[in-house]
Amino acid sequence: MKIKKTGYGTLSAEQPIGIFDSGVGGLTFAKEIKRLLPNENIIYFGDTKHLPYGEKSREAIVGYSKKITEFLLEKNCKAIVIACNSATANALKQVLALVDHRVPVIDVINPVAEKVAYEIHSNIGVIATKATVSSGLYRKTIRKHNKFIKVDELATPLLVPAIEEGFRNHPITHAIVYNYLSNNKLKDIDTLILGCTHYPLLLKEIRQFYGNRVRIIDSPNIVANEVKSILERHELLRSENKDVSYEFYLSDITKNFEKISKKFFGNSIALQLAVL
Ligand code: DGL
Repeated sequence: MKIKKTGYGTLSAEQPIGIFDSGVGGLTFAKEIKRLLPNENIIYFGDTKHLPYGEKSREAIVGYSKKITEFLLEKNCKAIVIACNSATANALKQVLALVDHRVPVIDVINPVAEKVAYEIHSNIGVIATKATVSSGLYRKTIRKHNKFIKVDELATPLLVPAIEEGFRNHPITHAIVYNYLSNNKLKDIDTLILGCTHYPLLLKEIRQFYGNRVRIIDSPNIVANEVKSILERHELLRSENKDVSYEFYLSDITKNFEKISKKFFGNSIALQLAVL
């Protein structure tokens, strides 16, 4: 096994990528990372016991995020993906301080905001949890790169509970999506960012609402490419498609998580309970 001095700690390509979220949302990003990097071992942590993060205080989100980061570092991960906007918006600094350059940390807001800011979009809408919207991080980051862009953020707090309850393709979710997207704040947008990693699970409903009028940013793809380019730059990409392993840890095992994780990663995966 080749061990590399990377500018982070001493890391090896064989080590897994650690990904975390409050629940099933991060799976939409994990799935894209798996598609783009099929040789990579992945460890996923879903903090199902404490969701929704979007309704929690900053202190609580920082506490959970740090504990999960420690867990993933103990599992020997070579990179950590914060596949949660609420955790990125409230705890990125603390996670970076804790990791202290031992491994790369990839979040879900900065790569997306940067990409959007340099493409030509004039009126951007962001839908996200309360914890993300109240941080204003999308708006600040996009406008730091391009101050001519108008960014309107709308909190859409009922979506995560609906998704976690398994109400996808369901009249209830349909009604909530239509109600939120009809909000005046979003009326002139040409581009929409799904600022919560759960929301790609409602892509069909969201697309139905907008038709071709509004471009929906593919955040999972942008973030997966960022993971790829960072690992590539540090020569940490696993080269062989042999014995690839996927591990899933949850603070509470839920039927919905089981269903979606098996749909994305195959029936043979096992879910393990982890106490934080
Ligand atoms: N999926 C997460 C996010 O991107 C968290 C949702 C929640 O637990 O409220 O914000």
